[in-house]
Amino acid sequence: MAEPLKVGLAGLGTVGTAVVHLLEQGRDRLVARCGRAIEVVAISARSRGKKRDFDPKKFRWVADPTALARDPGIDVLVEVIGGAGNPARQAVETALACGKPVVTANKALLARHGQKLAVMAERHGVALNFEAAVAGGIPIVKTLREGLNGASFTRIYGILNGTCNYILSRMEQDRLSFADCLRDAQRLGYAEADPTFDVEGHDTAQKLSILASLAFGTRIAPDAVYVEGISSITPADLAAAGELGYRIKLLGVAVRTAEGIEQRVHPTMVPKDSAIAQVMGVTNAVTLDADGLAPITLVGPGAGGAATASAVVADLADIARGIVTPPFGRPAARMTAIRKAPMQHHEGGYYIRLLARDRPGTAATIARRLAQQKISLESIVQRHGTASPGPAPSGRSGEAVPVIMITYATSEDAVRKALAAVRRDRVVSGRPQVIRIEKN
Ligand SMILES: NC(=O)c1ccc[n+]([C@@H]2O[C@H](COP(=O)([O-])OP(=O)(O)OC[C@H]3O[C@@H](n4cnc5c(N)ncnc54)[C@H](OP(=O)(O)O)[C@@H]3O)[C@@H](O)[C@H]2O)c1
Repeated sequence: MAEPLKVGLAGLGTVGTAVVHLLEQGRDRLVARCGRAIEVVAISARSRGKKRDFDPKKFRWVADPTALARDPGIDVLVEVIGGAGNPARQAVETALACGKPVVTANKALLARHGQKLAVMAERHGVALNFEAAVAGGIPIVKTLREGLNGASFTRIYGILNGTCNYILSRMEQDRLSFADCLRDAQRLGYAEADPTFDVEGHDTAQKLSILASLAFGTRIAPDAVYVEGISSITPADLAAAGELGYRIKLLGVAVRTAEGIEQRVHPTMVPKDSAIAQVMGVTNAVTLDADGLAPITLVGPGAGGAATASAVVADLADIARGIVTPPFGRPAARMTAIRKAPMQHHEGGYYIRLLARDRPGTAATIARRLAQQKISLESIVQRHGTASPGPAPSGRSGEAVPVIMITYATSEDAVRKALAAVRRDRVVSGRPQVIRIEKN
């Protein structure tokens, strides 16, 4: 039998620990599938003395992850430290420069430096595998890179952050506020103490930029992603969406348009009967649209040690078998600079909730401003009471009344201009809520 694949494991936290366990438990299965064993031989982390839930003495300790990367005793580096900077970056670059393949779960590193790392991996003829970096246990990277390598993608969208999906699901099901659901998510370990990166959409944006690159063959451009988070969503929006036949999800969406690639992350209304709308709680999902292919949706766990380790080990299994694929599905030299489709030109339906002042002429003013921008309405609902996020209006003249409108397809620019005009006219109070609608 061939020699075992010797793994240097940098990072022994949630993912690293789960990788140790899965490689131990799955040893015989992996031998049967790959024709050789996959063994951790050396480990590295920040603190040697930290209590681990495996016996670290079984492995050689290397204090510096970069020294581990160049250690002649390892065949492959697994980087599960995290972060776009050092030591993760230096360790990965060092391994590639030494001609060693790398498996990483690090979306921040890939979003920022993926292009350069792909070039290095190719130059040295080694694999750079990162299945775990996007949507944890869902094999979306391999699906894009290999399974659907012949497809011409038109759109890819998904729920890529379990924390946000958990919060929105709880808000809808239990009619709780964003703040209450966030607290619960933190208590259950689904959200960080500082949740900004997740709830403001930046985590989703990093993952989306990687998926867009794989789908469209463009160089990763995290700064070209339009980003809006979920903190302004209210139970009233979720209830109104439900009545209108929609659910609200934080989606990352990348679309091929005539103007270039549109990449956006924002709360999105999706038809209640769509596959993506069924995905509740911390689960992730990705839908792929390609020319001549019915949509494909993959659903599964987006995070957690076991799910993420499953992706890391699958990447290791490919390396054990000698499979080397260009990291982004095509040679790095053939990846093109992204042509960014401007967000103002985004076209689609919109949900608009505003608090209209209850006095003569308000409805006519709003209608005029929408008409000036050629926005037509599919439906309009005026509510007295329940859907208001503030105190229920008494119906006295001058008080604010929630008005919910669904537009037919229009442009982002038109919606922004119409709402700016309506605010200038002082016929609404507060900021209108705007949620984009994504059709199946
Ligand atoms: N957790 C998930 O569900 C999940 C899912 C998908 C992808 N990922 C990605 O997987 C990676 C790891 O995530 P994780 O949740 O396992 O993180 P974690 O639990 O915080 O573990 C991080 C590990 O890196 C080590 N480390 C941190 N700074 C270091 C330094 N300066 N030098 C050496 N070692 C250092 C830590 O050492 P000590 O143990 O000594 O502190 C720890 O073992 C990240 O890129 C993350 O985005 C995680």
